[in-house]
Amino acid sequence: MSEEIASDATIDRAVMALRRGELVAFPTETVYGLGADAVNDTALHTLYHVKRRPVAHPVIVHVGSAALLDRVGLDVSDDALRLAEQFWPGPLTVIVRLRPAAVSTVATGGLDTVGVRVPDHPVALELLARFDGGVAAPSANRFGRVSPTTAAHVRADLGDDVSLVLDGGAARVGVESTIVDCTGRLPVILRAGGVSSDAVQTALGKNLGVESSTRAPGTLASHYAPRAVVELVGEGDFAARVAYAYREGESVGVLALASVIDRAEFHNDIVRLARPGDVAEYAHVLYRALREADALGLDRVIAVAPSADGVGAAVTDRLRRASHR
Ligand code: TXA
Ligand code: MG
Repeated sequence: MSEEIASDATIDRAVMALRRGELVAFPTETVYGLGADAVNDTALHTLYHVKRRPVAHPVIVHVGSAALLDRVGLDVSDDALRLAEQFWPGPLTVIVRLRPAAVSTVATGGLDTVGVRVPDHPVALELLARFDGGVAAPSANRFGRVSPTTAAHVRADLGDDVSLVLDGGAARVGVESTIVDCTGRLPVILRAGGVSSDAVQTALGKNLGVESSTRAPGTLASHYAPRAVVELVGEGDFAARVAYAYREGESVGVLALASVIDRAEFHNDIVRLARPGDVAEYAHVLYRALREADALGLDRVIAVAPSADGVGAAVTDRLRRASHR
């Protein structure tokens, strides 16, 4: 697999493929997306089929600039506009009311709302600018599995089901976008992600609503799961839990901040999947580490979540879901 960034000519081929109703995988700063023309029902049916995703789970529509939010959304609130202005291009998705027919209802799972974002990656921005329309794209993995942060991950998951994978290197952020529902009285964070809830609150200058039954369709308790069992433990139990699993005959990998790993003592057979220096690096290496566990055929990953600062809340959220059986 080449680590070469997609060329001009490759991006052109991708634009033509999207226009023909084919799927194109492309890099974003969060994770790789599996894209389809957001107004092409047939292409979107193929997308759900390849992803093996339940049809009621809406996908995010990617656009090339914040100016396009009004083309996709209807009566876009001041909060949504402010978030777009402040964080786009970037790892934040706003849910707004759908402008009828601006996006296929296949992409929105039949809802009258739509999730929109402008990704912060030069290849994605070039693709979207040339395509000049919305690209509906969930993460480019099979439903429920670990999201891809490199082109090689996409190939490993989807194989020949996707004809074109644009390579943009390793995703900088490494976990998905923060989703903010701006359709209610108060904005509500539906999924923690690359932008912290503090940053959202500061940008809006008001308190956020709490998530009730408006739970984002498709954010399941169990998700982002490798084949290995993921166990989330507190720092105090870390070394003891690892030693116990090892004594039980399991092959074990560990995942925690470097400061936590370095304070614990492990048997030499224990695999250090990653020892990130801070929460941002934790997010950046998280999915790669979970994939590595499967590549090594490990039975168990024992992880200590980071603090909730910044992108730490998103890392903890994903570890929780990965550990949910
Ligand atoms: O960072 C990201 O957001 C990545 C990259 C590729 O942009 N995309 C991503 O897509 O994570 P996906 O399909 O794995 O997650 C999209 C989630 C859905 O599970 C759903 O919960 C929420 O976005 N969503 C989309 N449209 C929505 C809507 N109209 N109302 C509520 N939630 C929505
Ligand atoms: Mg996903």
